[in-house]
This record gives sequence, C-alpha cells and structure tokens, in this order.
Amino acid sequence: MGLVSSLRCPKCGKEPESKTVFRCPSCESILEVNVKIGHLTRADLQAASQSRDHSIWRWFDFFPLESRKFIVSLGEGCTPLIHATRLGAELDIPRLYLKNDTVLPTGSLKDRSNSVGISKAKELGFAVATVMSTGNAAASVAAYAAAAGMRSVVMVPVGTAPSKIIQARAYGATVVVIDGDFDNEVAKLYKAAILEFGWYDCLSSNPYRDEGKKSYSYEMVDQLNGEIPDWVIHPTAGGTGIYAMWKGFQEFRSLGWIQNLPRLVASQSDAETVAESIQVGNPVSLGWRALSALRESNGTAVPLSDEEILDAQSLTARLAGVFAEPAAATSVAAAKKLRESDVIRADDLVICNLTGHGLKQPGAIQISEKEFAPIAPTLAALREKVNKDSG
Ligand SMILES: Cc1ncc(COP(=O)(O)O)c(C=O)c1O
Ligand SMILES: [Zn+2]
Repeated sequence: MGLVSSLRCPKCGKEPESKTVFRCPSCESILEVNVKIGHLTRADLQAASQSRDHSIWRWFDFFPLESRKFIVSLGEGCTPLIHATRLGAELDIPRLYLKNDTVLPTGSLKDRSNSVGISKAKELGFAVATVMSTGNAAASVAAYAAAAGMRSVVMVPVGTAPSKIIQARAYGATVVVIDGDFDNEVAKLYKAAILEFGWYDCLSSNPYRDEGKKSYSYEMVDQLNGEIPDWVIHPTAGGTGIYAMWKGFQEFRSLGWIQNLPRLVASQSDAETVAESIQVGNPVSLGWRALSALRESNGTAVPLSDEEILDAQSLTARLAGVFAEPAAATSVAAAKKLRESDVIRADDLVICNLTGHGLKQPGAIQISEKEFAPIAPTLAALREKVNKDSG
C-alpha cells in the first residue's frame, strides 16, 4: 500500500489541501510529492527485485497511488541494461551500458511517467487527459488514456514529425496541431485550456507524473546488483528525468539500501536541432530542480551539435544494435565527448539512457534514392551491390 503524503511546495513549504492543484498558491512553484517510505526494509527491496511484475509497478511503494486497483500499466519499465562492449570499445569506455527505453510500450521514456500520471488520474476521477508535446508525450498519454478508458486531447506544434502525430491518433487521441511556437503560443493555449475545461494536466508540471521516472534509479541499482554507476547520462528537455532520477537514488540512500550516488549528466542539443524531442527552449517549470540535481551530484550538462548527435545515433545502431531517435542518442554523444576530454575515465561505469526509438523520427536517417533502386535478379548484380556497400 503506497503511503501518500500531501503535495508540498519545495520552495516555500506550503501544503495545499487540494490534490488536484499542481502549483503552489503562494509562489507558483510546481509542488512536489513526498511518498512516505520510511517503513520500508531490505526485505521490501528483495521482494521488489524478485517480483514477477516486470514493470515499474514492482516499486509500487515508491509511487503516489493510494491503491493498486488504480494502476494503469502497459508493462512499462524493467527495460534492458545492455553492456555495450563494441560501442564501449569504440568510445574507450569498456564499462558502457545502455538503458534501452526504446522498447517501452509507446517507444519512449514518457511511458514511465504516464503510467503513474494516468493511474493517479483514474484515482482522482478525471475523464479527460491532456498534454502539449513535441511528440513522444502525446503518443504516451494517448496510449495510457486509452487503456484507462479516458479521453485524451494532445496539442503539438506545427512541424512535429508525422510519425508521432499518427501514433497519438492511432490510440484515439484528439490531436490538435497548433500553428505556433512550442514555448510560446502552444504553451499559452495549453494553460488556458486546462483552466477552461478542467482537463487532467499530463505535463511535467504534474507532480504525480514526474514520480514515474524515479523508476530509472531503482532499476539501475537492481540491475547492477547494488553497484552504483559513476555516471548516468540522460537526454534532457524539461528536466524531469534528471530531477526524478536524483530523487530516486536519494530515496534508496535514505533507506540505507545504497551508500553512494552517481554523477548525473544532462545531454542536450545546442540549438535548433534534429533532436526534436528535446527541443525545449525554456524549461521554466523544472529547470531549477534539474540544475540543482546536476550540481548536487557533481555532474554536468553537455551541449551537442546535430553532427555529433547523428554520429552517435549511427554508432549506437551499428555497434550496439539499438536504434535510438536523435534526441535519445545525445546521451551517447555526451559520453563520447566527456571521454575525449577525460572527464569520464576509462574505467568508469557509464549508463547512457536511450529514451526514444529511432522509428519515432525515421526522417533523420539519410538514405539516398539510389539505395532503393532495385537490382536485376542475378548473382552478378547482387555481387556488385554487396561489394559496393562494403567499400
Ligand atoms: C526522446 C526523449 N528523451 C528525453 C526526453 C527528456 O525529458 P526530461 O528532461 O523531461 O526527462 C524527452 C522528453 O521530452 C524525450 O522525448
Ligand atoms: Zn510555494
């Protein structure tokens, strides 16, 4: 049984009565959930790690839900932690691991958040869920709303990859493409719509939803048998992942289940970018919390060019067999850069989170028309084609 404390303002300490007000009435900060975990013991850790539930919900006690009966799950979490030896050799990081979230139900990390967020919406009795998104969150909210029997309305900026719009639509969402900039017009309309229609807000300003990404830390500790990685690199947009992972590791430490903490790295694009899923110019809501997590962990942030990102995407697919979208490949690009400057040492244990599937944005892969041209059905033509490709 999850023991949920009230929502609390991390800045001024206020604890509003309402469970559906997500911002502090005094200072406007996003409220924080503190789940009561003090009673948990090592036996609970063992039970969770041996659970037959292969989803984030094996960590139920850490999530802000009153009862298991509200859980909306599509089997998210427990994703592979791959020891990428060939890619590691290329980057001179022998202990390089990839946390492969491309295999999540809708193909991105958003499922960790929305499983918790939509479960909470069910508990609170909402009928309509909404989110504004550069794509991945839209598909994820749509899928979990579908599973919960809720309606979803998702708002995306003009220019969002058609594959992402199609995915949200396939789950039955009302998809609204807005002629405007994500951080300005879209954000303004989104806020107004929530006030006007009373929809359930699935943005990172929803404190319940944010708790879902704590599952990264729990899974890493579990999968590494208690060893703490030296570095965890996370593709960063709004900052939820960094902030929530830090919280997750700290919870385990407060219980005495781990002693050390990793250094966290936010990998980001440096401008208008091919990494469209993390193209958030102004992460106002959680930016400060992510920054303090980076500082407290003695971590850093790494800006990357499109060239570096696409190179990392290609290396990850060709040397590790994981096809990640450009935004996700920023973690590998950052690992490469930090190793080249010797910030990451050769014997460090490094985890790169691969947060979205490459098929989310197939247009990022450049294939010339020529490659699709058919060959004659002869061995001679086949030999020529194969020889050309290996050269
Ligand atoms: C593929 C991908 N990676 C990473 C993120 C990071 O988001 P956050 O910084 O909120 O954890 C997002 C979300 O926008 C995403 O779509
Ligand atoms: Zn406050």
